[in-house]
Amino acid sequence: MKNSKFLRALNLKTHSIPPVWFMRQAGRYLPEYQKIRKNYSNFLDMCKQPKTCAELALQPIDRFDLDASILFSDILTIPDALNLGLAFHEGEGPKFSNPISSPQDIKKLISFDVNAIGYVFKAVEETKNLLPKDLPLIGFCGSPWTLAAYSIEGGGSKDFKKTKSFMANHPTELQEFLEILSNACYEYLRQQVLSGVNALQIFDSWADLLSGNDLERFSLKHTRMLTHLLKTDPVTADIPIILFEKSPNKKITDILFEEITCASLYWQEDLESVAKDFRDKYAIQGNLDPKVLLKSDESIWHETQKICNIMKEYPGFIFNLGHGITPDIDPNKVKVMIDALRQ
Ligand code: CP3
Repeated sequence: MKNSKFLRALNLKTHSIPPVWFMRQAGRYLPEYQKIRKNYSNFLDMCKQPKTCAELALQPIDRFDLDASILFSDILTIPDALNLGLAFHEGEGPKFSNPISSPQDIKKLISFDVNAIGYVFKAVEETKNLLPKDLPLIGFCGSPWTLAAYSIEGGGSKDFKKTKSFMANHPTELQEFLEILSNACYEYLRQQVLSGVNALQIFDSWADLLSGNDLERFSLKHTRMLTHLLKTDPVTADIPIILFEKSPNKKITDILFEEITCASLYWQEDLESVAKDFRDKYAIQGNLDPKVLLKSDESIWHETQKICNIMKEYPGFIFNLGHGITPDIDPNKVKVMIDALRQ
């Protein structure tokens, strides 16, 4: 396992052909996913079936022969375990029936019980059973900030008005909530590692809602607390940690910190200049714009090779998309990207 291309890249080794996996690789763009998904009206019910999760995690591996797999689950299992009442219905994003609307809701939150989401850890075990022995499995969680934003907003939103007003009116209580979430994420990731994952990714998918100072106060501070807990626990101390910051209002080179092994770069980041700063310090994962996969085969080929050329001699490069793949993408276009990379 240690010799897998993916883990070696996280260890700052150079490869002539970089390892590849991509965000949201198991999902709605795959017809084989849709075939299983149509048996469930609520996506979360599907996440509670460990054998199904394992099968779904394997789908993109079987189709594209990728260098890493990712646990099939969702970042919102933690707020669901805090009784916020999560559901995902056909064609809709996540919705919480019992969101955090006031400071009192935080005071009366039940304490997080990692055993309440035992289905996630069973999914890790089932996936490990199906995967080839030397293929790494990535575990993940949302950043405390991203989980707080969904929990307060009650779902996705264009402007996150409720979250921003909560932040302005109740900053102290929001900090308390973020601490609860940081501890929950720590226990959650620790249990994923005990169940068999080989690397961890933290998704700060709502980093872009925060200005530079607020990004520090409400997001990065708590992500650092989480990674500190992981690095001081013998169970998780040696597990590489990848951080994804979506379109942050701060330079990524001013965001990364020692406990992070690898930066998963958003597609707008300038790969070349980040690579100059991060060389010999951090591995880099990224960062093809997923929209390129809607273009011609020639464009996909060109854009993929451009990234590979920039990163050819970088110690620790993993090819990935600069955000999750979307349902409108033709899986054949993904194949074009992978062929361009491996030719
Ligand atoms: O291969 C994989 O990556 C599958 C595992 C996975 C899912 N979600 C499955 C999923 C992972 C790693 C996630 C992470 C996730 N979930 C993030 C962070 C990554 C990012 O895109 O920024 C976020 C923000 C979520 C929250 C979430 N889950 C939303 C907003 C939605 C609805 C919109 C969407 O993207 O589909 C989901 C649902 C979800 N999570 C689906 C899948 C396969 C689609 C559910 C369906 O079939 O209806």
